[in-house]
Amino acid sequence: MDMLNRAIARELQVSVQYMWQHVQWKGVEHYAVSEGLKETAIDEMKHAEAIAERLWYLGGKPTTQPAPIFVGNTLKEMLEFDVKAELEAINMYKEIMRLAEEEGDVATKEIFEEIEAKEEHHDFFTSLLER
Ligand SMILES: [Fe+2]
Ligand SMILES: [Fe+2]
Repeated sequence: MDMLNRAIARELQVSVQYMWQHVQWKGVEHYAVSEGLKETAIDEMKHAEAIAERLWYLGGKPTTQPAPIFVGNTLKEMLEFDVKAELEAINMYKEIMRLAEEEGDVATKEIFEEIEAKEEHHDFFTSLLER
């Protein structure tokens, strides 16, 4: 349950992080990627909600505190923060799936399998950095 709250904190973090990046992004690149960032922020909010529903069902209380948010100042800085956040999330979710499997919690494992499959965000940010 502690891990689920850490995952929620992470999803809340990136939801705000991508939303504020989308708002603060300037120049030509803004038009190229702002829609993508906007959609990604909404994806992350849905992830937070799905994990919170599971945690609540298990008898836990979902945190309201996001993990530290890194918006960044330049385009490159923002994307580097985002790639890092996605990588850390993927690693954390692998660990949660391993634990859930160990504890015989099939439903939690399935929820994280679904979320992880949708974390193609990492590829999205990585490809933007490669331009
Ligand atoms: Fe997510
Ligand atoms: Fe993500």
